[in-house]
Amino acid sequence: MSSELIFRGHDNQHHADMYLPKARKPWLSVTRPIRYVLREQRVVFVLVGIAIATIFFTLLPSSTSSPVPLQYEQKFESVPDVYFSTESGSGSTALSHGRMEYEQRARFGQVNSGGKVPLGLKRKGLRIVVTGGAGFVGSHLVDRLISRGDSVIVVDNFFTGRKENLMHHFGNPRFELIRHDVVEPLLLEVDQIYHLACPASPVHYKFNPVKTIKTNVVGTLNMLGLAKRVGARFLLTSTSEVYGDPLQHPQVETYWGNVNPIGVRSCYDEGKRTAETLTMDYHRGAGVAVRIARIFNTYGPRMCIDDGRVVSNFVAQALRKEPMTVYGDGKQTRSFQYVSDLVEGLMRLMEGEHVGPFNLGNPGEFTMLELAQVVQETIDPNAKIEFRPNTEDDPHKRKPDISRAKELLDWEPTISLRKGLPLMVSDFRQRIFGDHKDGANPA
Ligand SMILES: NC(=O)c1ccc[n+]([C@@H]2O[C@H](COP(=O)([O-])OP(=O)(O)OC[C@H]3O[C@@H](n4cnc5c(N)ncnc54)[C@H](O)[C@@H]3O)[C@@H](O)[C@H]2O)c1
Repeated sequence: MSSELIFRGHDNQHHADMYLPKARKPWLSVTRPIRYVLREQRVVFVLVGIAIATIFFTLLPSSTSSPVPLQYEQKFESVPDVYFSTESGSGSTALSHGRMEYEQRARFGQVNSGGKVPLGLKRKGLRIVVTGGAGFVGSHLVDRLISRGDSVIVVDNFFTGRKENLMHHFGNPRFELIRHDVVEPLLLEVDQIYHLACPASPVHYKFNPVKTIKTNVVGTLNMLGLAKRVGARFLLTSTSEVYGDPLQHPQVETYWGNVNPIGVRSCYDEGKRTAETLTMDYHRGAGVAVRIARIFNTYGPRMCIDDGRVVSNFVAQALRKEPMTVYGDGKQTRSFQYVSDLVEGLMRLMEGEHVGPFNLGNPGEFTMLELAQVVQETIDPNAKIEFRPNTEDDPHKRKPDISRAKELLDWEPTISLRKGLPLMVSDFRQRIFGDHKDGANPA
C-alpha cells in the first residue's frame, strides 16, 4: 500500500520512452477541412444534391405553396335568390363552403385546375356518385363518365333499375355498384353527386306513392346532406312535371307551374318540386354547390319496357303487333329527347358554373298521333292505333324553352326523333325477342 502511494521513481524513465507528436503547424488547421472537402469529389456530390432539391421544390404544384384553405380566409355569404345565378356571379362576392372545398381538391390535381402540375402527370379522374345509376338515364350517364376517365359509384335499390344496364362495367376498377335505398343515409367520399334515384314513369311512381315522395324528399335530403358533409357538387334531376298542366307555352324556367297538389301524380310532381326547394335551401343556407336540371321526355335504349311512358309503350306494342294505345284524342303534345343529348346536357350543367334550373329537352313538338305515325314508319306501317280515355292530370302540352341552356351551357339536342327512334327500336327488339338483327321479323 505504501509503495503505491510513495514510489515515483519510474516516472522519469517512462517519459523518456514516450512518442511525442510534432508540434502542430497553425496554418494546417485552416487548410485541412478545405482539403477534406476537395477530396473524393465531395463538392460534386454536394452540388448534385442541391440541384435535385431545387428541381423537386420547383416542380411541386403551386397549390402546395399556399395550403391555407380558402374557407378560413373567406366567410360564407348566402347566394342571392335568383334564377340562373352563377356561383361566383354577380351579386355574390363570396364562394360557398362546398364550392371552396370542391375547388381545393381541384387545385390538388383531382380536377383540371390549370395549376402547376408536374410534367407527365395526367389529370386524375373525379370520384362521382350516380344515384339511380342502374336505370335508363343513369346507366348512359355512367357510360360517359367512365369513358371520360372518372371513377363512378352507382347507388341503386333496383326498383326500376337493372344490373344488365351496367354489367359491361363489372370488373372495371373504376366502377362500383352499391345496392342501397337513398331513403337511408349513406357516407361516401366523392367529388360530385348526380342524384337521379326516383321512379320516373307513372306506372312505377304511382305503384307506391308514399315511397315515391319519400324518395324525392328524404332521399334528396340524404344526398344533399352528403354533399354538404364531403363538399361535393350536387346535381338534381328534376322534371318538366314541375310545370304540371302548364298555362304557359312553351315552358320557361321562370314559370312556376300549374300543379295539382292532391292528385295521383302529386307524389312525383310535388315530390320533385320539394326536392328542388331543398336543393336551393342547401345552396343558400349551407353553401352546397348545386345544379338543377328539369328533364323533359327522354327516350332511348335501356328504357323500361312497358313502363307506361308513351315512346316505350308505342314501340313495344308495335313490335309485338299490338295496337298502340293513345289516351284521349291524341292531340296532346310532347317533346322527345334522345338520351345521349340529355346526358351531354347534364354533364355540361354539372361542369359549368350555373345553378339553374335548366330545361333539358328537345323543343321539337309532336302530338301523340304524330308520334304513333313515326313509330309506324320505323317499325310497322300497318300498326294499329287504339284510343282510350285520358288519365287523370295528364298535361295537354309540354314543350321546353331551352334558350337558357343554349345561351349558358352552349347546349342543344342534336338527335332528331327519326334518327333516335331506330336505335331504341333495335334495343327493344333485342330485349323482347332476343334478336340482334335490325329489321328481323319477330312474328
Ligand atoms: N326519362 C325521362 O323521360 C325523365 C323525365 C324527367 C325526369 N327524369 C328524371 O331522371 C331520373 C332518372 O330517370 P329514368 O328515366 O332513368 O328512370 P329509371 O326508373 O329508369 O331510373 C331510376 C333509377 O332510380 C332507382 N331508384 C328508385 N328509387 C330509388 C331509391 N329509393 N333508392 C335508390 N335507387 C332508387 C331505380 O331503381 C332506377 O335505377 C329520375 O329522377 C327522373 O325523375 C326522367
